[in-house]
Amino acid sequence: MRIAVVGTGYVGLVAGACFAETGNEVVGADVDAGKIEGLQRNVLPIYEPGLEDLVERNQAARRLTFTTDVAGAIAASEVVFIAVGTPPDEDGSADLRHVLAVAEQIGTHMQREMVVVTKSTVPVGTAAKVAECVARHAKFPFHVVSNPEFLKEGAAIDDFMKPDRVVLGAETDHARSVMTELYAPFVRTGKPIIFMDIPSAEMTKYAANAMLATRISFMNEIAGLCERVGANVDLVRKGIGSDGRIGPAFLFPGPGYGGSCFPKDVKALIRTARETEFCLRVLDAVEAVNEEQKRVVAGKLRRALGEDLAGARVAVWGLAFKPNTDDMREAPALTLIDELVAAGAAAVVHDPVAMDEARRRLGDSVEYAANSYDALRDADALAVMTDWNEYRHPDFVRMKSALRRPVVVDGRNLYAPEKMASLGFRYYSIGRGARD
Ligand SMILES: NC(=O)c1ccc[n+]([C@@H]2O[C@H](COP(=O)([O-])OP(=O)(O)OC[C@H]3O[C@@H](n4cnc5c(N)ncnc54)[C@H](O)[C@@H]3O)[C@@H](O)[C@H]2O)c1
Repeated sequence: MRIAVVGTGYVGLVAGACFAETGNEVVGADVDAGKIEGLQRNVLPIYEPGLEDLVERNQAARRLTFTTDVAGAIAASEVVFIAVGTPPDEDGSADLRHVLAVAEQIGTHMQREMVVVTKSTVPVGTAAKVAECVARHAKFPFHVVSNPEFLKEGAAIDDFMKPDRVVLGAETDHARSVMTELYAPFVRTGKPIIFMDIPSAEMTKYAANAMLATRISFMNEIAGLCERVGANVDLVRKGIGSDGRIGPAFLFPGPGYGGSCFPKDVKALIRTARETEFCLRVLDAVEAVNEEQKRVVAGKLRRALGEDLAGARVAVWGLAFKPNTDDMREAPALTLIDELVAAGAAAVVHDPVAMDEARRRLGDSVEYAANSYDALRDADALAVMTDWNEYRHPDFVRMKSALRRPVVVDGRNLYAPEKMASLGFRYYSIGRGARD
């Protein structure tokens, strides 16, 4: 099939590369000329395990091409995926400007009957707006489909190639048959393609992210209570996660959720509800808890080093919002760094892959360490913000001798409290036993 994927960010690039890998002819189109020029040379704008190989292999086989000519890409295709960003507007609602701009272009440039698929996360009713925009210019029949994406950054290829399910909001036989054909290679193990009406598909994406964000905020609150009553949230997590009705995923407490999806999608769903004069009280609380949680590590640093952090030097391990990505959008580390800088403390940062992204965002407001141990030199404390594998088994003796004071605030519960105490660290983690 000839496919155009408009928007070559995390979602568009992964989807395009995976569709090419299954034999389709895919053109990835983006308005960002720098990104496209890099992609044409197999230089990826993002870090995502396995993606570089996939892009290189499929470009070499000429099944995958990249262009800034969005109109040309649309004109040459039978199926077009809209995978542009939907950032939060000032009021928290999803900003649909990019999605609708692409829809207008599709209407203007289509050369045959087309299936128009929204893959961007968009509120209920957007597919109808997309259809209106396309229809304004279209000279051929078209079929709008809602196909929300559930991939996780850091495991995106695997998630796309072996999805738990594919959700498709489609309302014509032609759309259903094209999408079934396209996704057949990815569901050979019997995972379901779930067809539904378009509004339900649009809502499914938000409901999924809202549920996952709820689990995280719930566990962060339970962790806070564990500290106050002397319980250990790790054991509580195992105790409840083994209940088949609950399951083990997304129960890890931490420094709050971040990333490009949960914060924005929770906000957008709350906003959608408000527009219908309905109040999502659970999600209001999920968001409020998360905002507080993002300040928990700074609070623990204050308890360890004293209320006034002015003049303190704090090493920060982990900048990406989660491991295996360089994505720092809404990362809890950014909130911590803001607080440190505002308090007059110095932050010395390290991340295995997000250092370039950090330099772009943070400029010279922080110091950049060449490796994780360099970050510790003469620091008054270490704050662990991302659970990268390389931070899991550090050389504790080397750590202790590099730090000026043996204070570790572990926002990801990577280390055993007893071991840290026996090594002479003053160790703070999330929800494990009484607070200092
Ligand atoms: N990142 C994720 O893990 C993830 C997962 C599921 C769903 N989503 C959703 O997918 C959508 C895309 O997210 P992303 O993280 O890939 O975004 P991104 O910001 O990484 O990429 C978006 C791309 O779209 C391009 N673009 C913007 N306007 C354009 C236009 N008019 N024509 C062509 N290109 C244009 C941008 O230049 C950019 O390269 C969002 O709605 C997001 O909520 C993201």
